[in-house]
Order: sequence, then C-alpha cells, then structure tokens
Amino acid sequence: MSFVLALDQGTTSSRALLFDGEGAVRSVAQKEFAQHFPRPGWVEHDAREIWETQLATAREALAAAGARPRDVAAVGITNQRETTVLWDRATGEPLAPAIVWQDRRTAGLCEELRTRGLGPLFQERTGLVLDAYFSGTKLKWLLDEIPGARARAERGELAFGTIDAWLAWNLTGRHVTDPSNASRTLLFDIHRNRWDEELLGILDIPAAVLPAVADSSGPLGTIRPELFGGPLTLAGMAGDQQAATFGQACLEPGMAKNTYGTGCFMLMNTGDRPVLSRNRLLSTTLWKVGDRLDYALEGSVFMAGAAVQWLRDGLGIIATSAEVEPLARSVPDSGGVFHVPAFTGLGAPWWDPAARGAFFGLTRGSHKGHLARAVLESIAYQTADLLTAMEADSGIRLRELRVDGGASRNDLLMQFQADVLGVTVVRPRVTETTALGAAYLAGLAVGFWDTPEQLARNWRPEARFEPTLDATERSARLDRWHRAVARAKDWAD
Ligand code: G3P
Repeated sequence: MSFVLALDQGTTSSRALLFDGEGAVRSVAQKEFAQHFPRPGWVEHDAREIWETQLATAREALAAAGARPRDVAAVGITNQRETTVLWDRATGEPLAPAIVWQDRRTAGLCEELRTRGLGPLFQERTGLVLDAYFSGTKLKWLLDEIPGARARAERGELAFGTIDAWLAWNLTGRHVTDPSNASRTLLFDIHRNRWDEELLGILDIPAAVLPAVADSSGPLGTIRPELFGGPLTLAGMAGDQQAATFGQACLEPGMAKNTYGTGCFMLMNTGDRPVLSRNRLLSTTLWKVGDRLDYALEGSVFMAGAAVQWLRDGLGIIATSAEVEPLARSVPDSGGVFHVPAFTGLGAPWWDPAARGAFFGLTRGSHKGHLARAVLESIAYQTADLLTAMEADSGIRLRELRVDGGASRNDLLMQFQADVLGVTVVRPRVTETTALGAAYLAGLAVGFWDTPEQLARNWRPEARFEPTLDATERSARLDRWHRAVARAKDWAD
C-alpha cells in the first residue's frame, strides 16, 4: 500500500490527487464542469456531472501513477461545502439541479426567519448566521418547490446531501456525511454533534431525508469494486476549508489559515469548544478525529479568485488567471481605484445579500492595470476585515497567517496581504492543503499514518511575506476600503 487518494470536489472543478507516505503529490487530474446561472443571483451545478467528472479524475490520477486499487490504502473526500443535492434513493437520480453555496435564492426566506427573531437560536445551536449561503434553506426551497417532494421525503424515498454525501453515496451506496459538512447546514447542533429536531421543525425538513453523521476520519464504506477494478476503502471526509486547516497543520488553538479559492475562507482553530462570534463570523466544526471534536471561527468571503476569473471571462482583459499578476504589476499602485467584489452579495462580516460589485475612484487616467490591481487588493482587504473580527472574537492577536489556494501563488497579492494585515503571511511548500487534509484524514483512519502530530511535522514554509506598511498608511487604506464597502451595500434592495 503506497498511496492515499484524495477526491477534491470544488466549486469550479473536480480534482483527484494521489499522495505518497511523505505527503508528496504523485499525480493530479482535474476537470472543470459547467456553471449555470439561470436567474440573477442563482447558481446551479449538475450533480450528475459532478459525480462523472470526479470519477473520471480519480481514474486518471490512478492511471497516471500506474496505481492499482491494491496500492491505495484509503480514499478521502473533500468538497465545496453547503451545495445542496436532493436525490431519489431508488434510482440515485437528483430531483433538481444542485443549488450552489453562492446561490442567493433563499435570501427572502432567511430575512423572514430573522424577522421572526430566530437568528439567535440558529446561531446558538449551529454557530451560523441566517444567510442563504447555508444548505438548510436551500433544502427547504427544494422540498417546497418540487411537487410531492416533502411527502416523498417523509416516506424515506429521498436523500439530501451536500457534495461529500452525494459522492459517498455514489462511491459506496451509504448515505453518510461528517460533522464538518453537517455543521454548514443550519440543521446541526454543533455542541451535541447531531441533527437538531427543533431546527428541522422550524424549516419543515423531515429527518428521514438526512444522512448519518460519521467521524471525519474513520471507516466510511467500501467503494464499489466495479468503479476502479477492485475495492477501495473510503476513510476520510471533510469540507474543503476544514480539510485545508488540517492540511495546514493548524491543529492547535489560535492557529489560522486563509485559502484563496473561488472565495476566501479564513479559519482559526479554537480547540475543543466553539467560540460564539460577536462580530458576525461563524463558529463551525473542524473535524471529528478519534476523541477529538475541534472547532473553528470562520470568516467566509464569497468572491476572491472568482473576481480574477471575472476579469478573464467577464471583461476579457486577461487571457489566463495567471496574467493578473503582471498586469497588476504594470502600475505602481491602484491609482486610487477601489473594487468591491460583491457580485453575489457580501459574506462575513457584512452579510449583505443585496450588495453588488463596484469600482470606485475611476478617472480618465485609469486603465486595465489599475482595475487588475484593485481587484487583487480587494481580496486582501476582505481578508483584513475577517482578521479584525477574528481577533476581536478570540482575543488572540495573530502572529502569522498560513495561506494556500490558487491565488496564494501570487506574490504581489501575498505581499499586499501582509501589508494590510500587519501580520506575517506564510506560504507552505505544499499548497495543495485541501486535498492533503483529506488524504491525511483517510490515511490516519487506516494506520497509513500514525498521529496528526506526526503529520504536523511534515509542514514546511516555502515563502514568508513580512508587513512593510506603517500603521498610519495601513489604516488610511482600510478607511477608504470601508467607504467603498458602505457604498456597495444594499444596492439590489
Ligand atoms: O463554503 C464554500 C467553500 O467550501 C467553497 O470552496 O474552494 O470551492 O471555493 P471552493
């Protein structure tokens, strides 16, 4: 047994990575899949396409390394979180397109629940704010809108799952999730680590539709032999941000990582107790590994790398995402231009579904270099807001921030990030931390690796970015940014 296979099902692509015993990547396969925007604010995926691309990449990654099923000690899943699938248990067919985490269609329903004064109850039990981001109201929407769905769900004919559960079902036939994914549904009591009947009642969701909640690291089922020409063991599962926190070896309270993917997700380990946020962050389950049930404070922003994609696909001013760095470097600064990437509203700490994207400070001298730079800077400013809230909630002054994800390879952005945070930013040698975290969780469960602490010793820094901006300049820039945010808020109301 030489490898562990990680399935990394993200918002824009399905990937599979094979890791060896040293935690080094031995092969990678990746397939993008279609994004559907049927109405303003709606975002959908085809759950079948997700499964097919994931299966194809897994086969490709195994073939690329010449690995057979008997060479693979375990398989781990990590996934875009909150994206909601409802399927027929008898046929395995989804009843509707998957509603993606970015989808805003249930903003009105969340508003109604807040008006009924239910915000504090949901926050106390689930650690979450009432926002369309999470799965619970998406599932309610499906049960309300698809004729006969609620009655069928009550009879046990339908299954709900986030992408982890959808993949596990297709791989093993078991209907199972883990606490890190369950904690993103608005239906899960993170303190007692189980589904919450009262919240299910409020959202009118039959318990029969829910998956079982297993540990993030442990036996999850045998993968059907016909898929890979022999059986494999599914033994790890975690939402992508929690998996990245594990892969970054942020195993002790106070350690934090930020992932620059489609969005930006900063998580700080708070140990074996959830810290309820007073600054509109989320408290969320990190993982259940053996006896350890750990929690994090999380700041989620919806647009980061996706804003760079928009420069590429929406504006066409770059041909590839990597071109954003040279274009942004073509100017010494943003020339006073500020961008607020509120394309799908604003997440933490603003939670404004009606905010919309904007550029401010354009003059006749502004050109595409300034726009590119302003877009990159907006990613760093959003992260700065998360850090301020996180330090206020935790009472911990962060010494360094570990970074990963596609845009963490952008040195200009990472230096600017250190400057606006006033904190050292550290990029590890292995930036595939999400997949690595899933591989670690699976490998630990089958004894391929021994302890999380042993894995933490594999973590090595590759680059450090030290803050260079003085405090006055830093706060002047953050003030401008906050003026821009204030103007972008409530736009779609
Ligand atoms: O909560 C959404 C998050 O899990 C999506 O992550 O990496 O697909 O942008 P990513």
